[in-house]
Amino acid sequence: MSESPVVRLEKDGDVALIIVNYPPVNALGPGVADGIVDCLNKANADPSVKSLVLMGDGRSFIAGADIRGFGTNRKRPPIGQRTYDVMDASPKPIVAAIHGYALGGGLENAMGCHYRIAVPSAKVGLPEVLIGILPGGGGTQRLPRLVGAQTALEMITSGRHVPAPEARKLGILDEVLPEGTDLRSAAVAYARKVADVRPLPRVRDKSVTADPAIFDAMRKSIARRARNQTAPYHCIAAVEAACTMDFEAGIRRENELFLELENADEAKALRYAFFAEREVAKLPDLPKDVAPYEFKDPAVIGAGTMGGGIAMSFADFGYDVKIMDATQEALDRGMERIKANYATSVKRGSLAQEEMERRLARIHPVAGYDDIKDCDVVVEAVFERMDVKKPVFAKLDEVMRPDAFLFSNTSALDMDDLASVTKRADKVAGTHFFSPANVMKLLEVVRPAEASPQTLMTAMALGRKIGKISAMAGNTDGFVANRSRAPFNSEMVILLEEGCLPEQVDKVMVDFGYPMGPFAVGDLAGLDIGAEGRKRRAAANPNYRKLPIADKLVEMGRYGQKTGAGWYRYEKGDRTPHPDPEVAAIIKQVAAEMGVPQKDFTDTEILQRLLFSSVNEACRILEEGKAYRASDVDVMWLHGFGFPRYRGGLMYWADGIGVKNVYNQIAAWHQQYGERWAPSKLLRELAETNTPFRQAKPAPFA
Ligand code: 3HC
Repeated sequence: MSESPVVRLEKDGDVALIIVNYPPVNALGPGVADGIVDCLNKANADPSVKSLVLMGDGRSFIAGADIRGFGTNRKRPPIGQRTYDVMDASPKPIVAAIHGYALGGGLENAMGCHYRIAVPSAKVGLPEVLIGILPGGGGTQRLPRLVGAQTALEMITSGRHVPAPEARKLGILDEVLPEGTDLRSAAVAYARKVADVRPLPRVRDKSVTADPAIFDAMRKSIARRARNQTAPYHCIAAVEAACTMDFEAGIRRENELFLELENADEAKALRYAFFAEREVAKLPDLPKDVAPYEFKDPAVIGAGTMGGGIAMSFADFGYDVKIMDATQEALDRGMERIKANYATSVKRGSLAQEEMERRLARIHPVAGYDDIKDCDVVVEAVFERMDVKKPVFAKLDEVMRPDAFLFSNTSALDMDDLASVTKRADKVAGTHFFSPANVMKLLEVVRPAEASPQTLMTAMALGRKIGKISAMAGNTDGFVANRSRAPFNSEMVILLEEGCLPEQVDKVMVDFGYPMGPFAVGDLAGLDIGAEGRKRRAAANPNYRKLPIADKLVEMGRYGQKTGAGWYRYEKGDRTPHPDPEVAAIIKQVAAEMGVPQKDFTDTEILQRLLFSSVNEACRILEEGKAYRASDVDVMWLHGFGFPRYRGGLMYWADGIGVKNVYNQIAAWHQQYGERWAPSKLLRELAETNTPFRQAKPAPFA
């Protein structure tokens, strides 16, 4: 009936269908909103049309506003002339027919319709807060009218995707179609059924009130996770407006709050993070015509903390997984730990008991290599030492089917060396999970020289299939994440030598936005682990910068939370870190023995000493071609180390300071502290040409 490149109007008898076609996810890109309005007007003007359907082509209904358009000079139609306003004015009923996603502006459009139906797999939500804005197309005014203020607050401040069956219960959807129903014909039938129903049920005509106390309670409940951010609070203010103002005034308030957020630093950083997370999946130097292998039958070797967490990740995402260890006792212990981890989630209410049972049933403990020999992918997670891993790899190579992929969960070992013990080096890669492996989102895929493109793609896809964000790293000591983080880890202890205290450094980093300070994290992970790595590096490199304070604590048996004392002391059965005068005394004593002059630090100095050291190392990693992009480093810091997302990532944050300023400070510290602060070549070049870190051109991947 009508053709536009992105929205078309079709007819099925007396029902008009407005179909959005803006691949891949039907964002409201250029021409989409105008196209919808145009089709609405045409359908309303056509006397043969009695009712309308709005739906999406391809894999989704509408995934929301085009995020690439934010921060540009895009024109937004004024209030009163938006798609929702045209829907509100429509004399004929409109049915939103949802599959895939109705997110942000997508759900806002659906709520502008008079009815909403969906297939069971559809998801709806208002995730704007996750990109630092609020639902600015009436979402903060319409959702509370549909589901009540409390639920709207929860959905809008979390941004979560709500599955269709739950959305039906909440009142967002009028109907969820039976599994397998054809959406288009069901929508046409629904539209015909409601064609003569009057008055038209408009969401804006509903009223909503709320106990005023819920808004302050919500502000309090998000205080920790929304630290340093504005958008979550503006979301609450907008929902509050829905409950205290009439619809028109509420919409104007929503718009004011939206405009305050759209181009703020927080939104810019979060948009950057959104696209960086998608960019990281792209492997520009690998052939485009190779597809990842569709693995079906994974196995995990090693039932320790990491192996157990990896097996849980497979089970969480629907895979049956075999898990094996050297002894029955270790295997039993591992399975007990897995059960205990799931039980904790059940206790916290984040997992249903039946779901725990289902997941547990997918994890199959097996006694030996014979039981896994037919698996198509193995993730080895045995003790992190080459002399332990090599025999395991040699054995795997011998027993596994020849086309199976062998992946190693290592955080630093040389993957070329490990691959060399097999006759299938092309099928070997590193898969570095972060602890706890079932929780942390980052999977660093480590690329040995001989790994085939398919192996690398399979490892990257494996991560995505079990809910991770996969990022490619070169085979260099510590790979990309830990190598870029290592100078930070040293610097935080060196700061103590110069007069800082652990609690002082931790406070600066928590104020910056980390969920925990680095010393508290060290205590959680175990200080003995870092000590092992330091020993190995000191043995390999005579110039290695030793960290006597950290070594001293480990010598004293202060391993962290597990021994009740580390950088902090802990009360029995309690994980709260308490500053420990004994640690302060050790720091003083070691600093005096080393003859380090003591000084006072500003918060900025502490922050920059830690983060600039890592920026410099990340530049070295890029200059050596061990990572594809500076934004990949950012993704690793966001998902591996808890770097605050609203600051974009390490390199994005450093761009905010300015590449020249970073260089000048590093050069000054080079003068003051010597070689460990030598500016990398890439950093110098970027500073000379005033090129942002984000635009750095790394060497070809090596
Ligand atoms: N705008 C622009 N591009 C988008 C987009 C959007 N809203 N949503 C997805 N894309 C792009 C991605 O960048 C990616 O591009 P690429 O292939 O070039 O890398 C491509 O679409 C596919 O996206 P994913 O890889 O993320 O696909 P998935 O299938 O894994 O996920 C999704 C689909 C759940 C829809 C996910 O893309 C997503 O969460 N999108 C963002 C949704 C969102 O935040 N909507 C609200 C926007 S703000 C808004 O509506 C404001 C309004 O209130 C005024």
